[in-house]
Amino acid sequence: MLSTWSFPTKIVFGASSSEPLAEVAKSLSMERPLVVTDPGIVMCGLLDGVTASLARAKIPWQLFDRVEANPTEASVFPGVSAFSQANCDGVIAVGGGSALDAAKAIRLKTTHPLPLEEYDDLRGGAEKISSNLPPMIAIATTSGTGSEVGRSAVIALKATGRKTVIFSPYLIPSVALADPSLTLRLPPHLTAATGMDAMTHNLEAYLAAGIHPMCDAIGLKGVEICRRYLPRAVSNGGDLEARSQMMVAAIMGGVAFQKGLGTVHSLAHPLSTVAGMHHGLTNAILLPHVMRFNLPAVPERFPDLALALGIIAPGHSCEELALRAISAIEQLNHEIGIPPRLRDAGVREEMIPVMVPLAMQDGCRLLNPRPTSAEEMEMLYRAAF
Ligand SMILES: [Fe+2]
Repeated sequence: MLSTWSFPTKIVFGASSSEPLAEVAKSLSMERPLVVTDPGIVMCGLLDGVTASLARAKIPWQLFDRVEANPTEASVFPGVSAFSQANCDGVIAVGGGSALDAAKAIRLKTTHPLPLEEYDDLRGGAEKISSNLPPMIAIATTSGTGSEVGRSAVIALKATGRKTVIFSPYLIPSVALADPSLTLRLPPHLTAATGMDAMTHNLEAYLAAGIHPMCDAIGLKGVEICRRYLPRAVSNGGDLEARSQMMVAAIMGGVAFQKGLGTVHSLAHPLSTVAGMHHGLTNAILLPHVMRFNLPAVPERFPDLALALGIIAPGHSCEELALRAISAIEQLNHEIGIPPRLRDAGVREEMIPVMVPLAMQDGCRLLNPRPTSAEEMEMLYRAAF
């Protein structure tokens, strides 16, 4: 069996790493970038450093600040129009996963004429995406999604009726400027939810089917960093060391899930489109339930995971260590204020039958270590409900 392993993103990491933005833009031959973000980022002043850097270098830019949470076509097509009307030649994305993913889709549509649903990964969309894309700089303002180093854009499309994964190695941003100082003011509940998205990427990638020892090692280390630093980042948002470590863990998660994800993400995507839940929050609540479900399929994977979660218990069986690892995730959720059940986050029981077929259509489950039927998807929703 052949596997392809590649980690090509250029990452500039450190507090203030977003300041040399203009130089990076010039190095990519951007003379008139489109800056893609959401209204919240503009309102809280997080865009100021970006625009100041461009202004100092006399680089004119066009702003598109209408990205929605859980982006749809409405976050993409007006951005494509803004790009062409202003004659832009590159994209600078600033924000959380939504802004970064919308920017990737905008970047794609500037040179790829097919309807967005044609690039759906489940329809073989990756084959239709070429390297002919304008350059992109990604500046994450949360530590969770890993989209700044990832190959996918997740957009909720009317044509597919679900969160649609558009996936290609060419969608990886040209450069990621990873500046943890941009996350210092993120409120505790968003720090917790986005941080558990990073935890889920690392953990789910480690357990995913497939042979990728490099991603496995990165995933395990990412789990360890999240366990150690997420509570600190939640309890004291100004802790730059904890914020820096969580930004590293988010990037590691984005790299690790090049191996694949699993059933947590397939269950999570409909919870955002149907119930409007925050993506990271859904993952946090679902994760222990799916770990318990996966245990019989891959018990031998759990001792290393338990160790990454700080459990040192020599002589214990794989199953015992797995149960302690699952408890450690539940305790972490409790410590950082994640509610234990989906119903606590506004999910209603009648939504479950609507979400099951959507979870089955989601491609993430295909690499889950234990195949998941529709009945089992429903069982997992009910277990977490
Ligand atoms: Fe995620």
